[in-house]
Amino acid sequence: MFDGNIEQRFTNDLYQTQIDYICLQKQMKSLFKTIAVESLKDNFFRRINREWMLITAGSTDHFNTMTASWGTLGILWNKPIAVCFVRPHRYTFQFTEKYNYFTLSFFNKNYRSILDFCGTHSGRDTDKVSRTGLIPLELGTDRVSFKQAELIFECRKMYADYIKPENFIMQDIIKKNYPGLDFHRFYIGEILNCYSRE
Ligand SMILES: Cc1cc2nc3c(=O)[nH]c(=O)nc-3n(C[C@H](O)[C@H](O)[C@H](O)COP(=O)(O)O)c2cc1C
Repeated sequence: MFDGNIEQRFTNDLYQTQIDYICLQKQMKSLFKTIAVESLKDNFFRRINREWMLITAGSTDHFNTMTASWGTLGILWNKPIAVCFVRPHRYTFQFTEKYNYFTLSFFNKNYRSILDFCGTHSGRDTDKVSRTGLIPLELGTDRVSFKQAELIFECRKMYADYIKPENFIMQDIIKKNYPGLDFHRFYIGEILNCYSRE
């Protein structure tokens, strides 16, 4: 039990927050370097489609992550952007809706089974972190990724909407991809930072 006065406790909390922040920055710097998106050499058609990524949203004490193999990277409104697609019944959806940021994390081939796990189990009834050994890494407020990631895009939501059935020019896509009519919600995020493993 804290026995000091409120001002003292506030100062202590503030001090601890500053220490935590410095530790976090040190940890980030030792694990990752920030790189310019234009210097990326990966083929993201292959990486997203074949190697997959984790979409993560929330704060360190309240977040969820899921595997995704649909998404895009590019330029919009003169900004580097990432777009991800989340079906409304995913548990992750509650987090991508609530929070202003999301991260896209890519891993090397050794993590394939972990990404498979995160894409076949729900955070509603499974603690994906303890089951996989992924170690959460706070990039900033409400921006969580994982220490084991190889490449991370830290994104701020700019625009979100549902895929609308009436807007399909190729209606056969609906039959193939949405038999349950559970149309994705997509999030266009500005890429604020791109981190690559040191
Ligand atoms: C390879 C792979 C790719 C996936 N891509 C997507 C995707 O792009 N969008 C989506 O909504 N679900 C996708 N999923 C399904 C979710 O990852 C899966 O339903 C997951 O269990 C949801 O977890 P959650 O309920 O904790 O959010 C994919 C699953 C796998 C295995």
